[in-house]
Amino acid sequence: MTFVPYDRPVRAAFIGLGRIYDLNVRGYLGNPDVEVVALVDPSEERRAQRQADWPEAATFASAAELASSGLEVDAVEVLLPVPLHADGVVEMLGFGWHVNLQKPMCNDLLDAQRMLDAAEASDRILRVMDNYLFYEPLRKLKAVAESGEIGQTVGYHMKMVGTGNGGWDVPWSSFEWQMEQMKRGRGIMVFDDGWHKLTTAIWLFGPIREVRAWIGNLAVGPGIDLDAPSTIIWEHENGVRGVWDITIAMDMYLRSDYYTNDERWEVTGSKGFARVNRCTGRGIQQPSLEVYADGEMRSYHALDDDWASSFRDSGRHWLRWLHSGDGPLLWSGDEAVDVLRFALAAYASSASGGIGVDPAKLVQTRGTPAQAASVGFEVRPAHDLAGSLDGLDAGEDVLQAQ
Ligand SMILES: NC(=O)c1ccc[n+]([C@@H]2O[C@H](COP(=O)([O-])OP(=O)(O)OC[C@H]3O[C@@H](n4cnc5c(N)ncnc54)[C@H](O)[C@@H]3O)[C@@H](O)[C@H]2O)c1
Repeated sequence: MTFVPYDRPVRAAFIGLGRIYDLNVRGYLGNPDVEVVALVDPSEERRAQRQADWPEAATFASAAELASSGLEVDAVEVLLPVPLHADGVVEMLGFGWHVNLQKPMCNDLLDAQRMLDAAEASDRILRVMDNYLFYEPLRKLKAVAESGEIGQTVGYHMKMVGTGNGGWDVPWSSFEWQMEQMKRGRGIMVFDDGWHKLTTAIWLFGPIREVRAWIGNLAVGPGIDLDAPSTIIWEHENGVRGVWDITIAMDMYLRSDYYTNDERWEVTGSKGFARVNRCTGRGIQQPSLEVYADGEMRSYHALDDDWASSFRDSGRHWLRWLHSGDGPLLWSGDEAVDVLRFALAAYASSASGGIGVDPAKLVQTRGTPAQAASVGFEVRPAHDLAGSLDGLDAGEDVLQAQ
């Protein structure tokens, strides 16, 4: 599309005023690139609570009410539960609003295409935000890997531990739709929070040609399951391999101002390594980035390693881009589809005993939501495994060697 930046502050509305609003709002507060004109949420309590930040903004119970009010809106910050993303975004693009959508984009490729088509048809921008791309220690990690300081990248590792104790309060209503997602095969660890890790992998080392996965299930309460332990490995088109291990430690206390998520990224270079020690939580209390090369360890003590700052900077980047055209814009709808394909390839691999799956070759067919979640797409194995598929029940359902 041909986008012309606004020559005045962008008129924006928040759609969804739940838990993550607390961090997304940081890109908007005190920002001369934007004027917040509306707040939308069916919950009267949420509207009243958030109105304290924006006393001048009008409030509405739905996006449709806002659209029919006659109030002029340029862009919306969409913070809806994931099951509402696809229909909600298509509707809002249709109203003529640019959309900044929280990740994960949506649950399947058909919905993703519907969203991209709606953006094209309405000549509006669909951005899928990923605040991790604005987390300063990760940005520095990327710069170090690209600088040659640790030699050539020979591999990397990501780690994520969800702990049962610590962190901020998450209302039960925020978990309810996550449980719904889990029942559809889109769990909170691999798909929801995991989306960020998959994004960082593509951002760091480019397109992915093969994914292998073993996705587990842990019942943590009656009717409450989490998708761990899980292990996902992959190879980028440039030959670099990554591995990500995901675990739950129910009894562990993790100091965190936000979610209790202990995370690590470690890039191994031919002559050293670089490691981000934490992100969402405050697990390792060392400097957030350490770089080892040539027998010396370098520690970064002054990075802005508050996870919330990544939301602030992601939001500011979007609003600056709309207002002034300063770019390139991180991260487009098409790039988000690559992340979705990465996740779906992991599910397809796991359902088929861990074989290699090429994310670019996933084909999703129409069917019931349950089919779409489990067996509704055909994949082409990255290697010719037709012979070894014999006797694999799940594989026969899911895979079609082409
Ligand atoms: N970037 C991150 O690290 C991060 C962290 C947490 C959540 N998220 C994402 O943010 C989004 C929201 O998550 P959350 O934890 O804030 O959820 P939440 O359940 O706390 O908040 C969702 C809000 O949307 C409102 N809502 C429901 N239907 C609506 C409708 N039709 N129109 C307008 N508002 C409606 C609800 O009343 C609620 O206030 C999800 O996509 C989630 O995956 C991202």
